[in-house]
Amino acid sequence: MAKAAPSIPHHIAIVMDGNGRWAKRRLMPRIAGHRQGVESLRRCIRACVERGVAVLTVFAFSSENWNRPEDEVSGLMELLGKALAREVPELQKGGIRLHFVGDRQGLSEGMRQGLAQAEAQTADNRRMVLNVCFNYGGRWDIAQAAARVAARGEPITEAALDRAMALAHVPDPDLLIRTGGEQRISNFLLWQCAYSELYFSHRLWPDFDAAALDEAIAAFDARERRFGQTSEQLARQAAG
Ligand code: IPE
Ligand code: IPE
Ligand code: MG
Repeated sequence: MAKAAPSIPHHIAIVMDGNGRWAKRRLMPRIAGHRQGVESLRRCIRACVERGVAVLTVFAFSSENWNRPEDEVSGLMELLGKALAREVPELQKGGIRLHFVGDRQGLSEGMRQGLAQAEAQTADNRRMVLNVCFNYGGRWDIAQAAARVAARGEPITEAALDRAMALAHVPDPDLLIRTGGEQRISNFLLWQCAYSELYFSHRLWPDFDAAALDEAIAAFDARERRFGQTSEQLARQAAG
């Protein structure tokens, strides 16, 4: 009997790590690894659309990445600007809706305008949502949500915070992938990954291809998500 197709996570989040090491192994500058990382993202977006993933959220630049050498930071900013100009028409063709998630206050005025424009251009697309976390930190997100709820004079409840978080427009990630071999969250989606399945890949991000994505999805498919309940309860619910 043919094996049933694996269940596809509705929302996949990815810490795209390992660009620098990819470049270093080739005696190339780190920014060359980031450039290759953009190619890998493009391939991953296509693979997710083909597999019917509804939401893809990627970590592109963390609140802490400002602490990197100045030339790497400016190289990354430039790369984002170029990627925006080049990729938005492609996303548009593919029916992908783009959201930027993070603290825009720390970005240049030109960059802020570019992000807003890209979001507006893709706002009617319905095939897949792509959240690009840029100047994002999980702690920043929780703090900004709390500040917004407090400013409205509302009580700080779980539900109110949930509605104020930067990813409130999508359900929480089902599968969180980190490439590059490190097994940590690095201040990514602290609030939203409470019940995400975690998957760590040794592949460096530029080497993470469609086959690697399928391995991650197969691993996800083999997990039992209990959300605090017992296996027996889940079996009973599945039996109706
Ligand atoms: C991830 O790759 C991309 C960003 C943080 C912008 P790294 O640049 O962290 O790559 P490694 O971890 O040094 O290999
Ligand atoms: C996490 O990777 C951030 C992104 C992938 C954008 P880092 O390379 O910055 O994480 P650490 O420093 O190894 O924890
Ligand atoms: Mg890294």
